[in-house]
Amino acid sequence: MQRHLITSAIPYINGIKHLGNLVGSQLPADLYARYLRARGHEVLFLCATDEHGTPAELAAAKAGKPVAEYCAEMHAVQADIAKGFGLSFDHFGRSSSPQNHTLTQHFAGRLADAGLIREVSEQQVYSNADGRYLPDRYIEGTCPNCAYDKARGDQCENCTKQLDPTDLINPRSAISGSTDLEVRETKHLYLRQSALKDDLDAWIDSKTDWPILTTSIAKKWLHDGDGLQDRGITRDLDWGIPVRRGNEDWPGMEGKVFYVWFDAPIEYIACAGEWADANGDADWERWWRTDKGADDVRYTQFMGKDNVPFHTLSFPATILGSGEPWKMVDHLKSFNYLTYDGGQFSTSQGRGVFMDQALEILPADYWRWWLLSNCPETSDSEFTWELFQQGVNKDLADVLGNFVSRVTKFCRSKFGETVPSGGTYGDRETALIEELQARVTRYGALMEAMEVRKSAQELRAIWVAGNEYLQAAAPWATIKVDEAQAAMQIRMAFNLIRLYATISSPFIPTASDRMQSSLGMESADWPEDVASALSSVQAGQTFAVPENLFAKISDDDRADWQSRFAGTRG
Ligand code: MF3
Ligand code: ZN
Repeated sequence: MQRHLITSAIPYINGIKHLGNLVGSQLPADLYARYLRARGHEVLFLCATDEHGTPAELAAAKAGKPVAEYCAEMHAVQADIAKGFGLSFDHFGRSSSPQNHTLTQHFAGRLADAGLIREVSEQQVYSNADGRYLPDRYIEGTCPNCAYDKARGDQCENCTKQLDPTDLINPRSAISGSTDLEVRETKHLYLRQSALKDDLDAWIDSKTDWPILTTSIAKKWLHDGDGLQDRGITRDLDWGIPVRRGNEDWPGMEGKVFYVWFDAPIEYIACAGEWADANGDADWERWWRTDKGADDVRYTQFMGKDNVPFHTLSFPATILGSGEPWKMVDHLKSFNYLTYDGGQFSTSQGRGVFMDQALEILPADYWRWWLLSNCPETSDSEFTWELFQQGVNKDLADVLGNFVSRVTKFCRSKFGETVPSGGTYGDRETALIEELQARVTRYGALMEAMEVRKSAQELRAIWVAGNEYLQAAAPWATIKVDEAQAAMQIRMAFNLIRLYATISSPFIPTASDRMQSSLGMESADWPEDVASALSSVQAGQTFAVPENLFAKISDDDRADWQSRFAGTRG
């Protein structure tokens, strides 16, 4: 038994997330958290909304609401949808929390004390038409790297390059569209990441088990060109965490706030504080301070690939630079992109299927299964309605759902609603147990290693093995010649249902609960020993036939959804 801290990249507050966001961090993080809990580990699984910065201000302006009110509302909406998807966060916090204000200002103060912050007079874009500075996303233009014409002032969505607003070609105001822009001088704080370069380099080098995709991104930013650049950590915005040095004023920084990418990862820590406050003063420091027990913790972060530089460099720079004993990430799992019908999912363009819409048309488990079994793990992957229909119908309806329904219905009609007695396991059952022992062990190892797609494949193979057993044993034929033998076969099948309920629960928690409760039994421990797991449902156990565990997606539904989601959402 081990303690696991798990965080998912915290989603921006600016609207409901699409399925591409979901599968790139929150959903696989939930899979891992559920798996580890099922194995008996102690887990603290945290996520939050990322509420500062220009995306929040712009979205609030568009909604015609004060930004604080907008954020409070959207947080509640996102929390609700997360619940709908079964995301089992121990706490879903807010980067605007008082805890994060305090902690962010604390880190800035520590960094300043360590001489790691410098003041810079910088050129910033001022919009005459809007009467204000235009930081980050308030500016759009053409990417100097890939020529994408809707690049934003902080990052190009197309090629993921991090940008400064002044890098953009043909810049325009994202508020008014005005090109009447001028560059003015203003003062900002910079984190001297360059001074931490060797520490970061050594830390990355110590991560020998990290995927090359992750370390190569970090190495590239550390060494390419002039090496790791200092980064501005303040902005001219109203909404955000006021720039303070610990709990003191910061002369010259009045009216400025910290940059959203400075305070957002600190929310991973602050969120543990929020969790503690919401849970009768639980001890959060044992999860985050290595001087308070956190060196026993294994910390895993989940994120999309565009987030990797911030998690391998910027946030570690903040933590290392503070000189305090904070827990650093042990493993970092990153994802590529899910594409939608040949293009990109896009929040700003309302393209794709959004989390609320998904739950309106089908229960969460359908989405969870398809998204996880097709997640963009080693490369981008594609969502199309055809692929979705195929995956759901084949795996969930034909294989798993059909198995459960055949077994329970057959039993009800021949033996009644009680698991029948008679017969003992023979060669076929021994062979099945042996196969499943190997598969369940492999499945556990893949889940442990966060090999999401391979885990899904192995789970599917375990479902298929049960179907093949049933097909070969054919209790509907056996019963005509040997009723005791047929009873034994059905008993095995009920045991398989219970095993499936246990091991499928990280992927499809609701269906797993229904399978479990149709047997009227408590949820089982993880089946380390498959032979004993497969004799835990005994003769005399009553059951109920679970109605419609998974329904098939018809061609009409598919066509319907395809056209309903073809456009963009306003
Ligand atoms: N909101 C960011 C995104 O969706 C992720 C922030 S992760 C954190 O890309 F590390 F900053 F918290
Ligand atoms: Zn670009």
